[in-house]
Amino acid sequence: MNFVVEENRCITPNSKDKSIFYTTFSLPKESDEILEYQPGDWLTIQPQNSPQMVSALLAELDLTGNESIELRRSGLVTVQQALENHLELTQLNPAILNKLQRQLGLGDWADRQAMMDYANGRDILDLLALYPQLKAQGVEFLNWLSPLSPRYYSIASAPIASASNKQQTVSILYKAVKYQNLGRQRFGVASNYLQDTQPGQILQGGLKPNPTFKLPEKASTPIVMIGAGTGLAPFIGFMQHRAIQQAAGQDLGGALLFFGETYQQTNCLFCDEFRNWQKQGLVETFYAFSRDQADKVYVSNRLLEQGDRLWDLLNNQAEFYICGSQAKLAESVKDALMRIFQQQGAMSEEQAQNYWRCLKQEKRLQMDVY
Ligand SMILES: Cc1cc2nc3c(=O)[nH]c(=O)nc-3n(C[C@H](O)[C@H](O)[C@H](O)COP(=O)(O)OP(=O)(O)OC[C@H]3O[C@@H](n4cnc5c(N)ncnc54)[C@H](O)[C@@H]3O)c2cc1C
Ligand SMILES: NC(=O)c1ccc[n+]([C@@H]2O[C@H](COP(=O)([O-])OP(=O)(O)OC[C@H]3O[C@@H](n4cnc5c(N)ncnc54)[C@H](OP(=O)(O)O)[C@@H]3O)[C@@H](O)[C@H]2O)c1
Repeated sequence: MNFVVEENRCITPNSKDKSIFYTTFSLPKESDEILEYQPGDWLTIQPQNSPQMVSALLAELDLTGNESIELRRSGLVTVQQALENHLELTQLNPAILNKLQRQLGLGDWADRQAMMDYANGRDILDLLALYPQLKAQGVEFLNWLSPLSPRYYSIASAPIASASNKQQTVSILYKAVKYQNLGRQRFGVASNYLQDTQPGQILQGGLKPNPTFKLPEKASTPIVMIGAGTGLAPFIGFMQHRAIQQAAGQDLGGALLFFGETYQQTNCLFCDEFRNWQKQGLVETFYAFSRDQADKVYVSNRLLEQGDRLWDLLNNQAEFYICGSQAKLAESVKDALMRIFQQQGAMSEEQAQNYWRCLKQEKRLQMDVY
């Protein structure tokens, strides 16, 4: 599916620690497809590797790019095309280490976990630095590499909102992945490709339904949205949807948003919009700005402060949503909610675990974590 970039804007222009972008797409005018999605679904983007990454690989392998290569999924292409569009260069798939160990006897990783640990934060240039003998394989070396995967993004808009503007659109919120490792600056392939896109540019991607991150069937059911960083994305879609429901005179249940970022002044994502939604009685916001004071404050702290309120909401059949980082946010939010279950519901740890599982099974606790 082709998407046209309508707007691409950095929403944290003054941030010291990260660049977060909000990008909106439409379908090409000649397209006979429709933008069919619901808040909570995903958009996928098929990225292209940066010219810098492609040039670095060509130089390391002493290739011009005009050579040909037959790729399993894409057929016969030039090496330039393979590196630009078809092969994963910014990530080192642990499966490559496994194949090199088994087939060439390179490396002595004890198990898959050791390979995963090694691969994390490394890319294909690191692999060539580790085993310079692989460079002599030239074009053949590319056969070890994995196909370039599409990246998933939580949709940050509602179709009703975009339909009311006449043109169908879909938006995403993403962080430009940029980090220093082993003395080299690294850039995530998709987020940096997206960051550089211009209005009118055509990108390849798709829409993927996410049946386990959906607003309640009844608009009157209360909701609790918990997110940090780009984890705010689906909640923008949820709020746009509920604003339309409110305008249509529907009876809406309460909505709470718990959101965490680094600094209030520069990283309060969609703050004006949420302030307006709060004024309209659509949501109540609880913010945690982690770096605005000496001690870290996270959404988990804000949840604990509202323990009795959250417990009441759970008893009123509220639905809970968690979105953001798997490793950081999801763990600490689970811990906070488990403490609330134990304190407010007089549960043992085991009972709280069972209650957590039960909420998940009943889809009253839905997670979009990555
Ligand atoms: C279901 C789902 C929903 C998602 N929704 C969103 C969303 O709404 N918004 C969003 O921004 N992202 C979202 N993501 C993440 C997104 O899909 C991409 O993974 C992300 O944009 C990075 O892709 P990239 O191609 O730019 O980076 P890649 O080229 O894939 O590089 C990422 C790799 O860099 C390494 N890395 C990254 N940061 C560091 C660091 N600080 N130190 C060391 N190594 C590091 C890691 O090994 C990581 O695997 C979602 C992912 C999933 C699975
Ligand atoms: N796998 C991938 O390829 C990939 C790529 C991109 C993003 N991601 C994930 O997506 C996340 C998105 O990055 P982001 O910058 O938007 O968000 P983030 O790193 O999750 O940071 C958002 C806020 O959450 C805070 N935080 C840190 N630890 C926390 C915890 N245990 N509980 C609650 N809040 C916590 C941060 O505080 P402090 O920073 O001040 O501690 C910050 O204020 C990344 O953390 C990463 O895990 C993964």
